[in-house]
Amino acid sequence: MSNVSIKTVKEVSGIRTASQMAADTLLKVGEMLRAGITTDDINQFVHDDTIRRGAWPAPLNYHGFPKSVCTSINEVVCHGIPSGRVIEDGDIINVDVTTIFEGFYGDTSATFYIGKPSPDARRVTEISRKCLELGIAEVREGARLGDIGAAIQEYAEGQGCSVVRAFVGHGIGRQFHEPPQVHHYGKRGSGLRLKAGMVFTIEPMVNLGSYDVEVLADKWTAVTVDGSLSAQFEHTVVVTKTGCEVLTKRPRPLLHSEVFPSQDGASLIAAAR
Ligand code: MF3
Ligand code: CO
Ligand code: CO
Repeated sequence: MSNVSIKTVKEVSGIRTASQMAADTLLKVGEMLRAGITTDDINQFVHDDTIRRGAWPAPLNYHGFPKSVCTSINEVVCHGIPSGRVIEDGDIINVDVTTIFEGFYGDTSATFYIGKPSPDARRVTEISRKCLELGIAEVREGARLGDIGAAIQEYAEGQGCSVVRAFVGHGIGRQFHEPPQVHHYGKRGSGLRLKAGMVFTIEPMVNLGSYDVEVLADKWTAVTVDGSLSAQFEHTVVVTKTGCEVLTKRPRPLLHSEVFPSQDGASLIAAAR
């Protein structure tokens, strides 16, 4: 448990810079999304947008992952591999961007609506968004990792959804995945005691049905066993004395997730909620 590093101010600054790049790329993904493009188009955009900053897309070749971003549609829980799959009206898609800049990692994801979502798609997406928010609200020096998991689990299960057990949030810094593991379920008052300077992700995956997942023959794509919809949001945070700083915080809302385009080009805030 004590192998969780406390980052220096300089290290946090490096992670913040990478995190802000990832956040900016994710904002731009929101602006390019529309029915008819493929997940390979998203991959190409994320790859080019990352390289143009002098940064590197962490997923590419990570333990053999073949692309520069994860794109997870509908019943795909996480680690979806970009392909020729066309995104269609009614789909929900999580896009998970991880940027490496000057040796530091920043990791963030969001679920987007393609066209008009079904009531079920809206439900699972909005519940997972709220789960991340509730998890972040628990973070401060002296709190326990179990407080984060409990807050997420209580809300998701209270809404009749389930929290995926097989994948967790993680410490992050000069490596993609470091200790601690951040479970999105648990008991208040249990687990690692948080200290200022710890940096980790919170990235709850919420399923409409059971939490069981299976990994497809491609060795990456994780899907719900029951075929139910799954949604996820992710931020990278640093613990402070009084709370936390969301290092992947966005300077404006996400199109097709937090705001929606209207005919005159203006944005309608939270139209799908
Ligand atoms: N970005 C994912 C996470 O949130 C990890 C993706 S690993 C990959 O931890 F190899 F699939 F890219
Ligand atoms: Co992550
Ligand atoms: Co991620």
